[in-house]
Amino acid sequence: MNLVSIHLVLALVILLFTGQVVAVQDKPFTRSVVIFNTVCAKCHEAECSGRLSFNEAFEAASSHIIRHYAEASGNKPLQKELFTILNYMKGKCAYYPMSFSVPADRIWNSDMLEPMATPGNENYFISVGSFPQGAYQLELTLAENAKVTVHLISDTFDMVVEDCYASSGKRIVVPFEIEDAGQYYLRIYPRKPVQVLRLAIIKKDEQTSAAQEDKLRP
Ligand code: HEC
Repeated sequence: MNLVSIHLVLALVILLFTGQVVAVQDKPFTRSVVIFNTVCAKCHEAECSGRLSFNEAFEAASSHIIRHYAEASGNKPLQKELFTILNYMKGKCAYYPMSFSVPADRIWNSDMLEPMATPGNENYFISVGSFPQGAYQLELTLAENAKVTVHLISDTFDMVVEDCYASSGKRIVVPFEIEDAGQYYLRIYPRKPVQVLRLAIIKKDEQTSAAQEDKLRP
């Protein structure tokens, strides 16, 4: 083999390898985390026994997993990921880490939200980042008017927001107060699947100054 073809082969190997890392590990795993933290969380949230389940338990749990998430039927890799995520929660008493960074302005558009939805926009689970103490407001813009249950949860599984809201003008505004600084997660359960087009979280005093700027603008 000459030098050029060696380089070509190397480039191909790197491409295949990195392509695979993204395809096999990153995207599907995030989706599985979202499925686990919405569908399975109804019973398995904050299950912190420290007692891990072994592979035999996975085989036994397969039909249980499919019962609660029919879409996992025939999808062993997904079932395995959900099993791994449950074990992570049992062992670490924490949400499985998600690979998305939080936008600096805390505004998420539909493209950023899409990977944090279960297929078909049935549920959303969004890592919204760390918050210092203070008063905030979150705003959801939906593709159409809907009733949605909103949970805002700390990394120690304390619910800061737990309520159902009906949108008006396709918008939902939820004021909330953070007493314990830390990492927070947002869970959205629409009554009927609906696409979330935008999520914005603002600090209460920032919102007032923005409103004042609006007024000052000619
Ligand atoms: C309606 C409640 C409920 C829902 C929803 C639910 N589970 Fe379970 N699950 C249980 C109960 C109860 C058990 C038996 C007790 C235990 O081990 O936690 C169990 C057991 C398991 C086990 C076996 C654990 C072991 O140690 O043997 C796995 C794995 C599991 N569930 C995964 C899931 C996954 C993945 C989902 C989501 C697709 C899910 N479950 C949804 C209630 C639920």
